[in-house]
Amino acid sequence: MRISHLLIAFTLCLPAVAADSKEALIARGKYLVEEVAKCQMCHTPRLENGEYDKEKWLKGMVLDFAPMKEVKGWHKTSPDLTPSARIWSRWGEATILKYLQTGLAQNGKPADPPMPAYKFSAPDAEAVLAYLKSLK
Ligand code: HEC
Repeated sequence: MRISHLLIAFTLCLPAVAADSKEALIARGKYLVEEVAKCQMCHTPRLENGEYDKEKWLKGMVLDFAPMKEVKGWHKTSPDLTPSARIWSRWGEATILKYLQTGLAQNGKPADPPMPAYKFSAPDAEAVLAYLKSLK
């Protein structure tokens, strides 16, 4: 086979590789969100039977727990994290990405409790962002 044929064959493979790696990124983000950070514990409401309301996955909620002692700045609600939510237009992707890596919000301060100050590595923050963007 001539070099030019090899090049064409290689180029034809590229879109498939790109699609694969995007899916892998989203899958990694899903794993980090659901199994490691457990964002759903505070951002997904539950049904009467105690199971998560899959229809409202990561769409924010009125928290179903409170601290035993008073905690300054405690928030009773968590925001919607899905792509149509206000946070995306208010902050933009770059700020959300930075927030996931530093725990510091747009105003340079941590979010109010009980939102944890996550310090994901850059690749992990990218994965979490990709997963959140893939939500409905
Ligand atoms: C222990 C409960 C809890 C967990 C777990 C949690 N959150 Fe939150 N989150 C909150 C609360 C409460 C707020 C509202 C705090 C505020 O407005 O300052 C919040 C706010 C946010 C905000 C907006 C911050 C702001 O200042 O407006 C983002 C973005 C966010 N959470 C993303 C996530 C992601 C992504 C995860 C998982 C990696 C996660 N949260 C896990 C409770 C939680």
